[in-house]
Amino acid sequence: MDTSLIETVNKLQEAFSTVKVQNPIDLPQITVVGSQSAGKSSVLENIVGKDFLPRGSGIVTRRPLVLQLVNSPGPEEVAEFLHLPGKKFTDFEQVRKEIEAETDRTTSSKVALSPDPIYLKVTSPNVLTLTLVDLPGITKVPTGDQPKNIEQLIKDMILKFITRPNAIILAVTPANADIANSDGLKLARETDPDGLRTLGVMTKVDLMDPGTDLIDILSGKIVPLKFGYIPVVNRGQKDIVANKRIAAALEAEKQFFENHPAYKNNAAFCGTPYLARRLSQILMMHIKATLPEIKSKISQMSLKYSQELTALGDPMGLEDTASLSSLMLNVITEFTNEYSTVIAGTSNDIS
Ligand code: GDP
Ligand code: MG
Ligand code: NA
Repeated sequence: MDTSLIETVNKLQEAFSTVKVQNPIDLPQITVVGSQSAGKSSVLENIVGKDFLPRGSGIVTRRPLVLQLVNSPGPEEVAEFLHLPGKKFTDFEQVRKEIEAETDRTTSSKVALSPDPIYLKVTSPNVLTLTLVDLPGITKVPTGDQPKNIEQLIKDMILKFITRPNAIILAVTPANADIANSDGLKLARETDPDGLRTLGVMTKVDLMDPGTDLIDILSGKIVPLKFGYIPVVNRGQKDIVANKRIAAALEAEKQFFENHPAYKNNAAFCGTPYLARRLSQILMMHIKATLPEIKSKISQMSLKYSQELTALGDPMGLEDTASLSSLMLNVITEFTNEYSTVIAGTSNDIS
């Protein structure tokens, strides 16, 4: 599968973010939602194969994290932040620290939320090219000096991301709780009532009561979703305390599904590696389908900003509108030049 289109959309996303315009053309993205402790961070770390996300109690994710995974021959695994151009991280403990520090830098207190995303790119031979947005988990109980309406604040932030028609929703739901109570699925349904752009991830399958399984859920009998459900097993709290490596966790996950009577016949469609393949595939299909729309929005924007500039006369002037217009025009022109073949739709065949 040629995934260069995903990187093209990443570039566009970064370019807009640099000029402080967030996703003006509704770029396709996969957004992770679920309640606090549903297992969102665990799923992301397993997909990346690295421990790199902040951990702790309370609301740990307080800003959206746009995680751009780029497959490359390697051998090194490198992380870079958009807000630290040129700085390459190979120690993922430092990545975790930088996410924490950058979260604090732009929020007013140690518990405050901000809708302004952090952009992190991980280039590695061990990832599939894929972009995911991690959002704060849904929580009902304010801690510290958090506002009383924290649940609504978080839901509003999530809805802002997932209401976009081009957002694919990854609804993370713990398998050891009643699916009817899944905050992730409930929120997904608010904006995607027919389940046409939602993929369910069932975590904590290892914690289900003995004798129960997910077969009815996975077969779509309870809450049908077009992209279906994928069950996973992440590290439990005990594994994390014991410093269990992700490679060992992925092997244990494989063994779990291959040996479980309810899942072993379909073990190939269970677990994190399958989830990552499926997500990369879905994102590619989605970008391909929206390419004509992206292309026409880009030409519209290019026209709009060049007209604004002509009207304003002085592109180097101190006028705010003029400098924004000129920045936007630069971004779009550079982008169009660099990706003219992709944008023209001539070299975007998926094999
Ligand atoms: P988040 O708040 O949604 O990001 O959830 P985390 O990924 O931080 O997980 C919350 C807790 O659940 C942690 O202690 C994890 O170790 C544990 N956990 C997550 N997924 C699983 C799983 O599949 N099995 C088990 N046993 N524990 C899990
Ligand atoms: Mg988390
Ligand atoms: Na949930």
